Amino acid sequence: MTEVPERSAVIIVAAGSGTRLGAAAPKAFVELAGRTLLRHALEGVHAAGAMQVIAVVPAGLEQEAEAELRAAAPADRDPGTVVVGGATRQQSVAAGLDALGDDVRIVLVHDAARALTPPAQIAAVASAVTGDAGVIPALPVVDTLKRVDGDLVTGPVDRSVLAAAQTPQGFPRTALQGAYVAALASGEEHTDDAALFAAAGGVVRRIAGSERAFKITTLADLERARMLLADRPALPRIGVGTDVHAFGGEGTLWLAGLEWPGEQPLSGHSDGDAVAHAIVDALLGAAGLGDIGEHFGTAHPEYAGAHADVFLGRTAELLAEAGFAIGNVSVQFQGNRPRFSARRAEAEQALSSALGGAPVTVSATTTDGLGFPGRGEGIAVTAVALVLQV
Ligand code: CTP
Ligand code: MG
Repeated sequence: MTEVPERSAVIIVAAGSGTRLGAAAPKAFVELAGRTLLRHALEGVHAAGAMQVIAVVPAGLEQEAEAELRAAAPADRDPGTVVVGGATRQQSVAAGLDALGDDVRIVLVHDAARALTPPAQIAAVASAVTGDAGVIPALPVVDTLKRVDGDLVTGPVDRSVLAAAQTPQGFPRTALQGAYVAALASGEEHTDDAALFAAAGGVVRRIAGSERAFKITTLADLERARMLLADRPALPRIGVGTDVHAFGGEGTLWLAGLEWPGEQPLSGHSDGDAVAHAIVDALLGAAGLGDIGEHFGTAHPEYAGAHADVFLGRTAELLAEAGFAIGNVSVQFQGNRPRFSARRAEAEQALSSALGGAPVTVSATTTDGLGFPGRGEGIAVTAVALVLQV
């Protein structure tokens, strides 16, 4: 993906009421797959690159909008600014322009209603703004077009000279602001920024738009967006976890979710099951949910002496609450004892059922006599987990 040039800003207009959609909330605050359209648009913008973000919203929804900006912004980015819009789209863009930072030189104007616009399109528009010209993404017109007068078809229209405009539309900052001043003076209303910019004498070029950047206007559009998101493959994430425990203490060994009668136990808070602990860290790491110390450490005495089923069951719950499903887990431990292969299937079954059924595979290896596992002092475990954002 091309880089968004430095000193760019995006004005996301989200102040419309959405009369054609007819929802209870203004259109940008309507939910699509658990997130508002505004949030989808913001996430697209952040994925495109670092820019000043200005969201223009209906009066009375400033606080909700600010929460959306904070939720959408990566931790290291300024979430941006919320301003109140006007009676028309043009007035809303004008309100957004007033909030531009002093050093901004490229301005994108983007409809929140084009909630699924690919980040690559946003970045491509921004980087195509060079010199004095504006840039819009546009798609060829596919329908056969007719000129009509009431119900009478009066003639054909040559579609080869037409294109359907999308957003974001990008402009050099000073020229766009000048065009807005001119529009204010003339009192003319334009349906998009490119028309307003051209009316003030500006040159506008087009680049390729995309099907996913369609504007959500009616319920059928919202349904189309829902279907596109439902088809989206889950985003996989991986995590790694390691654990080491020394042999020692009283009782029997617990390892890989099984009790091993006659084997020396591993020492540690809980039952010392280093295989289970490494799995917990791999899963929490994959989901970005911290680590085992945070959720199960000595600050949580309820887990003292707990076995793998408790740790893994709670971990699976934490992931589910955060919207992750477990793909699979692969674990290997290094140690001379216990002799593992005869009980591998049993262990895998126990660990898998503790995780709610996700496949878990476990292997064991010795270290050729080297290191603490080789000397029989303890066990070292490495686990890798794959999770899916659902
Ligand atoms: N918009 C805006 N301020 C307005 C009108 C529109 O910020 N006074 C924004 C909308 O929120 C939308 C974009 O401009 O993101 C494109 O407008 P449109 O799709 O027409 O949205 P609405 O005006 O909300 O819908 P409708 O025309 O059906 O009422
Ligand atoms: Mg409208």
